[in-house]
Amino acid sequence: MKLPHLLPRIRTSLFGLLLATAVLPFLTAQTKVEAPPLVLGTAWYPEQWPESRWDADLDLMQKAGIHMVRVGEFAWSRMEPSEGQYDLDWLDHAVAAAAKHNIVTVIGTPSAAPPAWLTQKYPETLRTKQDGRKDEHGNRQQFNWADPKYRELARAMAEQLAKRFGHNPNVIGWQIDNEYADVSYDDATKAQFQASLKARYGTLDNLNARWTTSYWSETYSNWDQVPIEEQYGNPGLLLSWKRFVSDTWRSYQKNQLDVIRANSEHQFITTNMMGLFDGYDHYTVSQDLDLASWDDYVGEGQLDPYRNGIAHDLTRGFLRKNFWVMETQPGFVNWAPINNSLNKGEVRAMAWHDIGHGADAVSYWQWRSALNGQEEYHGTLVGADGTPVPLYDEVAKLGAEFAKAGPALAGTSVKSDVAILHSYDSRWAINWQRHNKDYDPVAEIYSYYKPLRDIAQSIDIVNPSVPLSQYKLVVAPGLNVLSEAEGKNLIAYVEQGGNLVLGQRTGMKDIDNALQVERQPGPLVPLLGGRVEQYYALTAPVPVGGSWGTGTSKEWAELLSAKNPDTKVLMTYGKSNGWLDGQPAAITRKVGKGSITYIGAWLDEATMKNAAKWMTDASGVTPKFGTVPEGVDVYPREGEHGKIFVLVNFSNAAQTIPLPSAMQDVLNGGTTRSVTLPVYGVAVLLVSK
Ligand code: GAL
Repeated sequence: MKLPHLLPRIRTSLFGLLLATAVLPFLTAQTKVEAPPLVLGTAWYPEQWPESRWDADLDLMQKAGIHMVRVGEFAWSRMEPSEGQYDLDWLDHAVAAAAKHNIVTVIGTPSAAPPAWLTQKYPETLRTKQDGRKDEHGNRQQFNWADPKYRELARAMAEQLAKRFGHNPNVIGWQIDNEYADVSYDDATKAQFQASLKARYGTLDNLNARWTTSYWSETYSNWDQVPIEEQYGNPGLLLSWKRFVSDTWRSYQKNQLDVIRANSEHQFITTNMMGLFDGYDHYTVSQDLDLASWDDYVGEGQLDPYRNGIAHDLTRGFLRKNFWVMETQPGFVNWAPINNSLNKGEVRAMAWHDIGHGADAVSYWQWRSALNGQEEYHGTLVGADGTPVPLYDEVAKLGAEFAKAGPALAGTSVKSDVAILHSYDSRWAINWQRHNKDYDPVAEIYSYYKPLRDIAQSIDIVNPSVPLSQYKLVVAPGLNVLSEAEGKNLIAYVEQGGNLVLGQRTGMKDIDNALQVERQPGPLVPLLGGRVEQYYALTAPVPVGGSWGTGTSKEWAELLSAKNPDTKVLMTYGKSNGWLDGQPAAITRKVGKGSITYIGAWLDEATMKNAAKWMTDASGVTPKFGTVPEGVDVYPREGEHGKIFVLVNFSNAAQTIPLPSAMQDVLNGGTTRSVTLPVYGVAVLLVSK
């Protein structure tokens, strides 16, 4: 480490200064700030304020129990004011000033906001929008993610940062770029896409066959004839473009990640993703990261703990370990149709809901609004005058609670008996051809997630290629695209005693988004001993009845057949379009100790609840905690030393919850057999081993 980099940090104490020339390693150790197990953080933009103001901000952060600032992710014009002239001293000062307040730093690489000189000098780095027009300077994300020159410049910037801060003990991690989203449709990118097709398919004959391009005379005789299509086009082409987009985000990220890794140690690398956003395949992009993180915004309305829970569990599934909430709203945002605030107490409740789902950090965007710029109205923790807004005290309470509960939660993670399978290929494939405009694949996942979560109190959402043997129950709603390997994984799971439930539209397509010749569920038809004979989009719900009571199917109904004598019919359709009348709507087959079930109906909430009860009973899944009143969420985390249960009351009345055994009350102290939670109340309970 070079002396100039150390100096700002050792200014933190006179004692340090005296020792500066003699015992440098000792000094580094002295000034190192430890991140606590539960991190409360905020996005901070020191470049927007005079250095003389920083201390006051950091002091207020420290008083609120904030231990992390994320800085730099839009500061390229400050870091490199002109080409090759890097100025990082201010950032070094900011990291040191934060450390003085016991605050660690995560540095964002600034590639989401290239400076004006850059795009002016290298216009090819600007992305081309779908209508063929070039983007321009003045907002952000105007760059072309596939452009080699842009990558070269972004890498050089990241390298400067990594060389300067890669060994700084108070920089604990890196965020690459910010919310990958916009892509480019220029000719050079199209040529890269065509080259990627050649690499994947080898020959045009192969591509033509797998995309069935004899249809509508789409046959290609040259790679450069293949267009870019995003919405309406050959399904194989649509899926291939999305794969290219995902691979290109991965290589875009790797371009910076490699140079950071080569110049750093003991620092994680992440990027802030966007929950249920499906612009690229997050499994593809996250595989090179150390940590998954996401930006959790409610926007208009109040928190829906189930929908948000899905996004948390999905993000936790990217690397199948704890994650960070890198950004979340301090009350309200500025981009929704109505930017209402979360209610008093809801921000704190939401933070505990985040932790319960496996987050180890919650970081507010942002600390203080820039006095000008596009986001003046967004929620903050301090106002334009630099003093706290009303929400500050609630966040400070959270800071104190994180400090108290941190030791108990350290090293704990979420362990689930139930997994929901999710793939981007499937979501895209359904969205491109919904067949019923109201068929939303996320809503389909939600319809399973809610009742299963209520029973199991913990769900993993994972990709169908991961090992599944740890789960008692695996549910695949809308797993439309199924690769051969994924099919084999599911078959092996059942044959080894697992319980698999397939939902509507599962196993219909292969990896080229072509129809599976076995019909649904494709390679699982023999194991199921039945299949989908026909699907019907519905204009109105149709009746269903059987083992799970009587109810309806909405949006969609699949007529099933049970060919194998072992395959039992669980539900049948009532009178509807004639085709469905009296036909199987759900079937199941026992396979050794395991089972496979197919549900062809989109069940109403009450019937789905019964179905979830049946699924969990049949697979031996029990609640991780025990019964809780409706509207109270319970989040189990487990570690070497015991179990932790976070309880949050999202109902609109106070609730008293008897505990299944005596538990330690982590926030209030003592041991208790019941807790009473006001609206948005939180309890953190520990059962030591
Ligand atoms: C995020 C973004 C932040 C800020 C925030 C406002 O999507 O990463 O930079 O714009 O939204 O809600």
